[in-house]
Amino acid sequence: MTAAALTPDDDTPRPGATESVTVRVPAKVNLALSVGPLRSDGYHDLATVFHAVGLFDEVTASTADGLALTCEGEGQVDVPLDDTNLAWRAAELLARTAGRSPAVRLHLTKGIPVAGGMAGGSADAAGALVACDALWGTGLSRDDLHALAAQLGSDVPFALYGGTAMGTGRGEQITPVLARGEFHWVFAFAHEGLSTPAVFRELDRLREEAGEQAAAPGVDEELLRALRAGDSTLLGAALRNDLTRPATSLRPDLRATLQAGQDAGAIGTLLSGSGPTCAFLAADAAAAARVAAALEAAPSVRAVRRALGPAAGAHVL
Ligand code: C5P
Repeated sequence: MTAAALTPDDDTPRPGATESVTVRVPAKVNLALSVGPLRSDGYHDLATVFHAVGLFDEVTASTADGLALTCEGEGQVDVPLDDTNLAWRAAELLARTAGRSPAVRLHLTKGIPVAGGMAGGSADAAGALVACDALWGTGLSRDDLHALAAQLGSDVPFALYGGTAMGTGRGEQITPVLARGEFHWVFAFAHEGLSTPAVFRELDRLREEAGEQAAAPGVDEELLRALRAGDSTLLGAALRNDLTRPATSLRPDLRATLQAGQDAGAIGTLLSGSGPTCAFLAADAAAAARVAAALEAAPSVRAVRRALGPAAGAHVL
């Protein structure tokens, strides 16, 4: 029998046939992360500049009788495969919104570290929203998807957009930022993850201990100027993260990782989000290779990845 004889005449799905949609979603770093005081709802007001980078997870949604979740790739043993996973919750939320049953098999292929401060779980949630929307033909608008994403977590809306953008509120309000050029990043993954709530709690504890009053959050003008100019040297000098102090307080070995990247010639060093991943900005591809090689040898580092930023947001492959 020839292959042509097995091919249906048109694209109409056959009854019972498995259809699937794969969505690619980027990791993020926060080029600036300014954290205001603790709010009464347990969150902190933020002013942040999100930057999507070329480390990706893929979410494949396939027709199924019920909701099921599987996972492979970076950190897969630490990924929960039940309703505590944000991708699972995203499928349920979208199904509820569309008035249908959440009958879908989700498969995650992970390239973003788990509990690494690069919003991997949030990326999977954004990917699941976009993949299920396409699979089910829900046809929600970007604004509708954004509203659902914000219900799932503070970092989920940005994963829909990608690029470089300002985040305010608890991080879920997104405004585009003018950014030019391409930046060379190196990421050092740690041996163990860090809990985001624990890092925010440690920030509050350190502030209280020092008698500090948290100011209203804001982003420095130099950072925005560096992005507008596409100037990596200026950008490297303007990187800021208020969560560095609490994360290094909980995990002192992160200081050694940050120092190793700086010693190897990085033009900017940064804790990624709530950590423990450390991010290093390099002047060009050759400098990034040197920084990566030095970090590979650091005992506090489990794995090293290079990536370009900005990267595109969640998109169907
Ligand atoms: O929104 P998301 O579920 O990702 O937040 C995880 C945790 O991080 C929150 O429960 C809270 O402890 C902390 N957080 C915060 N302020 C923010 C965002 C997150 O305190 N703006």
